[in-house]
This record gives sequence, structure tokens and C-alpha cells, in this order.
Amino acid sequence: MRNSLESDAFVFFGATGDLAYKKIFPALYAMVHRGELNTPIIGMARAGWTLDKLRDRARDSVQAAGDFEPECFAKLSALLDYVDGDYADPATYLRLKKALGLAARPIHYLAIPPSMFGSVVQGLAKSGCADSARVIVEKPFGRDLETARALDETLHAVFPEQSIFRIDHYLGKEAVQNLLYFRFANTFLEPIWNRNYVKDVQITMAEKFGVQGRGAFYEEVGAIRDVVQNHLLQVIALLAMDAPVGHESQAMQSEKLRLFRAMRPLDPKEVVRGQFRGYRSENGVAKASQVETFAALRLHIDTWRWADVPFYIRAGKCLALSATEVIVNLKSPPLAIFDASATMPTNYYRLRLSPEVVIGAGALVKRNGENMRGEPVELIARHQSQIEKSPYERLLGDAIRGDTSLFTQDETVEAAWRVVDPVLRDPLPVVEYEPGSWGPAVATDVVAGDEVWHNPTPEQTQPC
Ligand code: BG6
Repeated sequence: MRNSLESDAFVFFGATGDLAYKKIFPALYAMVHRGELNTPIIGMARAGWTLDKLRDRARDSVQAAGDFEPECFAKLSALLDYVDGDYADPATYLRLKKALGLAARPIHYLAIPPSMFGSVVQGLAKSGCADSARVIVEKPFGRDLETARALDETLHAVFPEQSIFRIDHYLGKEAVQNLLYFRFANTFLEPIWNRNYVKDVQITMAEKFGVQGRGAFYEEVGAIRDVVQNHLLQVIALLAMDAPVGHESQAMQSEKLRLFRAMRPLDPKEVVRGQFRGYRSENGVAKASQVETFAALRLHIDTWRWADVPFYIRAGKCLALSATEVIVNLKSPPLAIFDASATMPTNYYRLRLSPEVVIGAGALVKRNGENMRGEPVELIARHQSQIEKSPYERLLGDAIRGDTSLFTQDETVEAAWRVVDPVLRDPLPVVEYEPGSWGPAVATDVVAGDEVWHNPTPEQTQPC
């Protein structure tokens, strides 16, 4: 949904930080490269840097990210400006106002810890920098339901909801958008996409690497806040929501919100929190830390479509390999005509979201020979390895154009916190697991009955 004109200046707070280095500069460079960005870009920080130092940092960042064309970087560099100052000091915003010059509709990206949102938003408002402006905020959006509400209040005091762009970069991924496309552009799925045919749904987000030097950040977050409350619940919402009525992006948002509201708050007894051996020796991590680097949980969705269908989520650092994959397991046929004595796998859909994009359908076919015996095969429905735009390029571009479709709204974020809040309030102790494994053995208790966790296979992934 386009809610008005394009922003005419891009301001980002936290310009000297990690996110700017890893994601923002490469995304801005890609936009300039595509000819889609030609507005002033103002980096904000309180680091005592100069514009030249910021330009050097931007060059390093773009070079580290891959393709580097000097002429294209020169264009980006010419658009860059830098304002240094304390975010609590009104003089910082007066300098920003001056740097904005004639820009009348800036967009402010708060790539900074949420604890600073209040003073920055107030500073922007008092200096007039928030007039007709938009704001982009990064996750984690709060620490729980209460803090998320407080953050919303802080932002709403200055920005109307349609001018607030909450980034969940998963929603900017091609593979995640394809979940929606695959579901709602095909007729063959809808008749089976419900409790009558689906036995359970599993999502595994496995990362082979650990906390990568971000121990202090991770201590404040843990796997549930870091990836479950946002990325993985969003994936479930796209898998489980009903079709929107109408083409407006608000129709999509409303259906998604209905689904979030139907998610039952987690039962701590259906959650396992794990911690990889060695996490407590990371820099910035407490010696007796109880922060989870792994979570496995069972989620229920209380709708007619999904009643009694468990949705299993598993996410962790230092697991056996890096891959994010959804498996939708279908029920067995009503009678076993063939293979009556053997246990045969049921049909399934496999939706690989990363590192590749794969859609597979698991089926059974007759094995060659005289007997009516079968074997499992997988039909690969789609395979795409080239992603055109990075999620950050896509999302920042959308925000600059005022397109809110791929951003999360206040009510959705709050509904998601309501789901995970019981586990955050009342967590059971973490269980240690070996790096390189699939998490603690006790995670198998999360899946019900004869079900087992589906572990993504290495032959489908690239080395990381
Ligand atoms: C981020 C988390 O939001 O998502 C990280 O903070 C995680 O811990 C990352 O590694 C995964 O995203 P992607 O796109 O690299 O799979």
C-alpha cells in the first residue's frame, strides 16, 4: 500500500554500528546501483566521527559485501552526509535539521537499541525533523508485551501508525513471500490445507554458527525473542492464515492479525530451551547464563481450520547445519492397501526457505518388481537459488516509497508477544546441548505421539 509521496531524505541513526556496516550500506549501494536512490543520506551517530570516516566505513562495508564498482560507490558517497552528536542533546537535532536543508519528507531509520527510541523520537519532534516524516524501527521491538506497548506509545506520540515501518527482514525474503504466493496462487493446495489432511507442521531454523561475537546482545535476547517471536511466528502466520478478502495490503494485514490472535499463548510445558556447550565462555555472557540459544516448542492455532494440528518450531545456534525449512506433514490414507506391514512415510510438502529456495512434495511410488511395494520420492516443484534483492534493499526501498505491505503493524507485534510471553515470564531452566548437534535430546518430547523432528538434510544446503 502506498500511503503518499516518496521520502526525500534518508536519515539513519546508528551509522557507525554493526547493522549499518553489515546490512544498511550494502542495501543503499544496491539501490543506488539500480538507480532507485537519489536522495540525501544522513548518517547519525555519537562517535566523534567525520564524514570522511563514515565514507571509508561505507566503502569497507560495500567491498566486504561483494560487488564493488567505484563509479557507483562514488554516487553513494556523494549522497552521504554525517551528523555527530549525543542523541539526548537538542543541539544534535538542530544540526540534523540544518543538514536536511530543503527536504520536507525525511525518513528516519532507528538502527539503535530500543532504549534510545524515546529520546530520539522526542528530539526529532521538538526540532521539527519529524514533520511529515516516516520512521523505521528494527527488531527486537520490545522485550515483552508490556515493553512493546510502551514503545508503541512512545512512537505514536510523534508518528501516526501508517508512518511507522517495523522491520522484520524475514518478510523481505523472496522465499517467505513465495509462501504466500504458492498458497494463494494455486488451487490444489486449498482443499487439503486444513485439519482434515494436515497432521502437523514443523519449522526448523537451524544455524551452524554461534553468537558470532554478539554475546552481550544475545544475553539480552535469547532465541525466543531473537527469532521465534518475530521471524518464525510470521512464517507460521503466512502458512496458516486465510486468504485475504480484496487486494489491498490492509486486507492481507488484517487476515494475518486474525491468525496471530488465534495463536494460543505458549504453554511452558510444551517448550524446551537449550544452550550450546561453550556459550557461557563467550564474551559478554554471564558465567551462569540461563539464556537459551535453542528453543523447541509446540504451538496451537485455535481456528476451525487448524484445531488440533500442532505447529512445531525449532530454532537454534550451533546446530548441525544452516537451513530454514518448513515441513507440512499430511495424514496417512484411510486404509493401507499396499505395504500393509511396513511403516511408510506420509505425504508432505517441504518448503525450504534458506539457504536455497526449494518446494518439494513427498510422495510414494511403486518400487520396480512383482510386489506392490512402494518407496518414497520427492517431487521438486520449484528451485531458485538467485535472490534478486536482499531483504534490506527491498524493505528500505519500500519504506522510502511509503509501501507498508511488508512491515509489521503494532497490533500484530503485540499479538505475537502475547503468544511467547508465558515462556519469557516463567522460563524453565536451559538444557545444555553439544555444538553441531540438533539440540538437546529432550526436544524430542515436544513433538507428539509417533512424530519425529525432520532434520534438514545437508545435500540440499551450501556449506556455510
Ligand atoms: C536475525 C537474528 O534477526 O536473523 C540473528 O538476530 C539470525 O540471530 C538472523 O542469525 C538470521 O537471518 P538470516 O536472514 O541470516 O537467515
